[in-house]
Amino acid sequence: MIGKKLLDAMNEQIKHELESYYIYLSMVAYFHSQNLDGMAHWMRCQAHEEMIHAMKFFDHIIDRGNEVKLLDLKQLKTSWNSPLEAWKEAYAQEQFITSKIHNLVKIARKENDFASDTMLNWFTKEQIEEEANADKNVRQMERVENSREGVFMLDRELGTRIFPAGSPLDPAAYNLAT
Ligand SMILES: [Fe+2]
Ligand SMILES: [Fe+2]
Repeated sequence: MIGKKLLDAMNEQIKHELESYYIYLSMVAYFHSQNLDGMAHWMRCQAHEEMIHAMKFFDHIIDRGNEVKLLDLKQLKTSWNSPLEAWKEAYAQEQFITSKIHNLVKIARKENDFASDTMLNWFTKEQIEEEANADKNVRQMERVENSREGVFMLDRELGTRIFPAGSPLDPAAYNLAT
């Protein structure tokens, strides 16, 4: 079983990952409202990943014989002043998540919870990728921000991200694809 301190922090982490899911989904709505369907598509793929992250913690807690406790999500933001501001916030969210993952690793090691330490290894590596992707998007957006063509091209490029197989956020999954 997982010790109390780590268990509480992992239940807390489910909330953080679901908050990532929810804020990214809100950004999907925002990007669509700005006619940036490619960016919206990229964020849909990312939101899907966040749900998977939450479920990895969910299942780890259950597999170890502990109880999942879902917590209230924080107040959701629904609009941004610019696409760049949204991308910057996505990057900040990932930096926040990284700090939380590192904290979980610290607790797991202190408690000699080797099973959780191994499971958290995946997240430590994943966060390197998540931060790199988010940072790249911010820098690309900064570069093209004042050019209509540049924004158009970037939107096109981000729209090519491949959905994880069977994603419920893929319009094709519920036959609404046009
Ligand atoms: Fe995540
Ligand atoms: Fe990822």
